[in-house]
Amino acid sequence: MWAGNVPAPRNDVLNRSEGGLGTRTRAWVCVVLVLGAAAGVGVGVPLALRVDPGAALPQRIASARMLLRDSPLIDGHNDLPWNIRKFMHNKLHSFNFTAELKKLRPWSRSSWSHTDLPRLREGMVGAQFWVSYVPCESQRLNAVQLTIEQIDLIKRLIEQYPEDLKLATSADELEEAFREGRIASLIGVEGGHAIQNSLGVLRALRDLGVRYMTLTHTCSTPWAECARARETDEEDPNSPRGLTQFGKTVVREMNRLGLLVDLSHVSQATMREALEVSRAPVIFSHSSVYAICKNPRNVPDDILQRVASNGGVVMVSFYNQFLTCSEQATISDVIEHINHVRKVAGVEHVGIGADFDGINMLPEGLGDVSGYPQLFAELLGDPAWSEDDLRKLAGQNLLRVMRRAEQVRRELQEQGMKPYEEEMRSQRTGEDYSCFYRFIRPADDGE
Ligand SMILES: *[C@@H]1O[C@H](CO)[C@@H](O)[C@H](O)[C@H]1NC(C)=O
Repeated sequence: MWAGNVPAPRNDVLNRSEGGLGTRTRAWVCVVLVLGAAAGVGVGVPLALRVDPGAALPQRIASARMLLRDSPLIDGHNDLPWNIRKFMHNKLHSFNFTAELKKLRPWSRSSWSHTDLPRLREGMVGAQFWVSYVPCESQRLNAVQLTIEQIDLIKRLIEQYPEDLKLATSADELEEAFREGRIASLIGVEGGHAIQNSLGVLRALRDLGVRYMTLTHTCSTPWAECARARETDEEDPNSPRGLTQFGKTVVREMNRLGLLVDLSHVSQATMREALEVSRAPVIFSHSSVYAICKNPRNVPDDILQRVASNGGVVMVSFYNQFLTCSEQATISDVIEHINHVRKVAGVEHVGIGADFDGINMLPEGLGDVSGYPQLFAELLGDPAWSEDDLRKLAGQNLLRVMRRAEQVRRELQEQGMKPYEEEMRSQRTGEDYSCFYRFIRPADDGE
């Protein structure tokens, strides 16, 4: 069968050692010709790799793999770094990322483990945001330290596997790593408690290579409200509704720094206010659709419309509880969410942020990072999805968002906008911060 003529896609070492494009391009032309013929496309018209929607599943999977080899699949959220802390205490010497972790303890016994290099390759992952997540319980304690340690872990992991991973801090770097056959590795910080109310820490995180920050995790910060189980829930009477003035400054400073504002985990009020303030496109790194499953972690339709006018992207999560509000889900449920974002926000504003290694209930057929070609094969069965649409969903939308955020950064800095120096007022007076060092000026020190 025609798919049998395709060079084995698994081993990207071949592409690398030949400088990337030679073998790939030739293989590409062959397959395009074969596919074109198979789909009955005349050779005179521009050739597309899109297989006929009626093609059998194996053909659609082969077509999906070709597509993801040509245009990067960028996943918005993977929590492997936290699992490495949990299981290995961040001791990477005893961590083997090229091994099949599903066969190795303790990974094999955890329902939270879905990621290793063999499966990332099988899943055709082109770029991954690795997440520096630290628990809410560390807020006002050592959240900043833990966050930096997780960033250090991500960088050491990348350095330990240079054949397979490469740090990327811009859209250009992402595409370069992808062309070299390596998985572009980006860093996101999950939870605004990571900056402990400090714009200085925010800037330092950006300098460490972080390119998005989720404004909250499951706890509000003093300046941003998180998604609550019910809008009326009071987790803490002092916590804000939506974004405070300082929270708006955090968003503006993120724009100035070219740090993407991630609105997964925040309340609807925070979503709305962040969208009003942000001059750059925002992302939802791992959220699904509220109209389908009324979980407060999901995105309601009016916000989807605002994300469209903002130019942002909603990266659909694969967590069963967000897909069906239950423990069970299938690939069709993921597709229903993707199609809903497409219908309400448009095909320019949908992406993928599965949340592997951060969840423990996944749809049938998408149980680990190897499943993306199956998802794209299903979408190839729907004539509404053109090849171009699928590239956008896979990663081109996120690349556009990154480029626009980089441009906003340049513009703001060219306009001479200076770093914000606002402080949280409670930091100077609040009892919550009683364990913080307080600067006391000696009596003989000027005045
Ligand atoms: C890691 O796992 C791979 C695949 O199982 C194996 O070939 C390799 O020897 C292992 N490396 C180490 C350092 O144990």
